[in-house]
Amino acid sequence: MPVSELPAVTSSGTVPESADVLVVGMAEALGSSVLVGVPDDVERAWVKRTGTPLQEAAQALGALPKPGTVVALPGSPLIVAVGLGDVDVTPEQVRRAAGGAVRAAARLAGDRTLSVAVSLDAVEPEVIRGVTEGALLGAYTYAKASAEPTKRPVGALTIVSDASGAATAVAEGVAVAKAVCRARDWVNSPANVLYPETFADDVREAGKAARLDVEVLDEKALTKGGFGGILAVGGGSSRPPRLVRVTYAPRGAKAHLSLVGKGITFDTGGLNLKTAEGMYTMKCDMAGAAAVLAAVFSIAELKLKVKVTVWAALAENMPSGTAYRPSDVITMYGGRTVENANSDAEGRIVMADALVRAGEDDPDLLVDVATLTGACLVALGERTAGLMASDDDVADQLLDAAEQSGEPFWHLPIPEEISENLTSDVADLVSSGKSRYGGALTAAAFLREFAGEGRRWAHLDIAGPAWNGNSPRDYTPKQGTGFAVRTLVALARDLAG
Ligand code: BES
Ligand code: MN
Ligand code: MN
Repeated sequence: MPVSELPAVTSSGTVPESADVLVVGMAEALGSSVLVGVPDDVERAWVKRTGTPLQEAAQALGALPKPGTVVALPGSPLIVAVGLGDVDVTPEQVRRAAGGAVRAAARLAGDRTLSVAVSLDAVEPEVIRGVTEGALLGAYTYAKASAEPTKRPVGALTIVSDASGAATAVAEGVAVAKAVCRARDWVNSPANVLYPETFADDVREAGKAARLDVEVLDEKALTKGGFGGILAVGGGSSRPPRLVRVTYAPRGAKAHLSLVGKGITFDTGGLNLKTAEGMYTMKCDMAGAAAVLAAVFSIAELKLKVKVTVWAALAENMPSGTAYRPSDVITMYGGRTVENANSDAEGRIVMADALVRAGEDDPDLLVDVATLTGACLVALGERTAGLMASDDDVADQLLDAAEQSGEPFWHLPIPEEISENLTSDVADLVSSGKSRYGGALTAAAFLREFAGEGRRWAHLDIAGPAWNGNSPRDYTPKQGTGFAVRTLVALARDLAG
C-alpha cells in the first residue's frame, strides 16, 4: 500500500538554525492587527536588515488577521504570516492557520525539501496539539503511483512553544495527525490496489507493529459464522469480503467503546449500477472503516485508558452473475431477515452484520461510521457529517468530542414515522424506503434495528466530508480527508476520563 511519508516533527522553545521557513500569525486584538509568535532574535535580525519592524513589513505586503490570508516575507528563514482570526485562539483556528501556512510553504518549495518552523504563540496543550495537527495535516501529500521518486516538499517540522508540557502536547498531536494521514492513505488507494483482502492484510501488518490484536474473518469464516449481509454484498466481486476486528484492551480501562466502520472498497452500486459520474469517487466508500481503524491505532499510541473494539466490514459491491439481487432476502448475522430493496444500499447491509456482532460484547458505547447516503450530502452539504443517536445524551457526547476536534457534525432526528419505510412483505425488514425523502434518516433507522434495543449508540454519516472533490483548503487536501478520526480519538479521551 502506498504510504505517505510524514515530516519529522520536533518540539522546541526556539526556532532552529536549520529552518527554511518560519510561520508566524497575524491576529486581531481589540480591532487592530498584531503579529504573534515572532521570536525576539528574528525581529531584531529583520529590523537590522530592513530598517522596519516585521509587523509593518507584513502589513505592507497585505498580511491580515483574516483566516485564509497567507503572506510570505523574503529572507532567511522565509517568514510566512498567516491569518489567525481573533487573538484568543481556539484549537481549530490554529489547526487551519498552521495547515494553510504549511501548504503555502510547500508550494514555494520548488525542488527543495523544506524545514518548517511553526510559531503561533501556543500555550495551552489543546492549542499546541492543534498547531501540530494542522501543520502535519497541511504537509500531507499522497504518494503518487509513479516510477519517478516522489518528492517531499516538507521534510521537517518544528512546533515552537516554550510552554512547559509542550513536548507532550506535540507528541499527542503527532499521534492524532499520523492516524488521520493513515486514513487518508487508505481512502486514496485505488480499489484495484486496496480491496478487502489487501486492506485486511495492511491492518494485520499495522497491528503487528503496534502490538494490537487483529483478527480477520475471511469468506470461509464469514460463511461459518453466518454473516449473511457481508457475504451477500461481497458476493458479486471476485475479491471476497472480510470482517476485521482490532482490539485494544489496556489495563485499567474506564469503559468499552465499540467502533464499526463501513468498508466498501468500491461501490459500483451492484446490479443497481451507479452512473459513471456517481461511481467515479467510490473508492472512498471505505472511509468509515479507515476512520475507525486509524482511530484505534492512535488511541493505543496515546495509551488512553479505554477498551476499544473495532469492526471493519470490508466488501466490494460489484454487479456480476453472483451479485445479490434486488428482492433477494438475506439472513443477517443473528438471524434477522432483510429484503434487499436496492443493491446500491449495500452499506447498511454490511454494517448490520457488524453491529450485531459488536453488540454481543455489550460495549458501553457503540459508534458506527459510514459513507452511507447521498441523502446526507443533500441535507447537510459536503463538509458537515450527520449524527444520529439512540438518545440526546449520546448525541451530546459525540458533539462534544466533535467540537474539540474541529470536525463539523449536525444532529439529525430519527422520526418515529420513518421506520414505516422499513416494513417488508417478505422479510423482517426491507433495506430501504419507499420514499427517498429523509434517506439519511431511513438508513439510520435501519441501522438502529441492529444496534439493538437499549444500546447506547451513535451513527456518523460521513458521506460528504470524507471526500474533498474540490481544491485543497487549510489542512484539508483533495480526495480522502481522514474525517472522523479526530472526533473518535477525542471521544476516547473523554471516555478515559
Ligand atoms: N456509498 C453510497 C453513498 C454515497 C454517495 C457516499 C455519495 C458518498 C457520496 C451508498 O452506498 C449509496 O449508494 N446510497 C444510496 C442509497 C439508496 C440506494 C437508498 C444513495 O444514497 O443513493
Ligand atoms: Mn451504494
Ligand atoms: Mn456505498
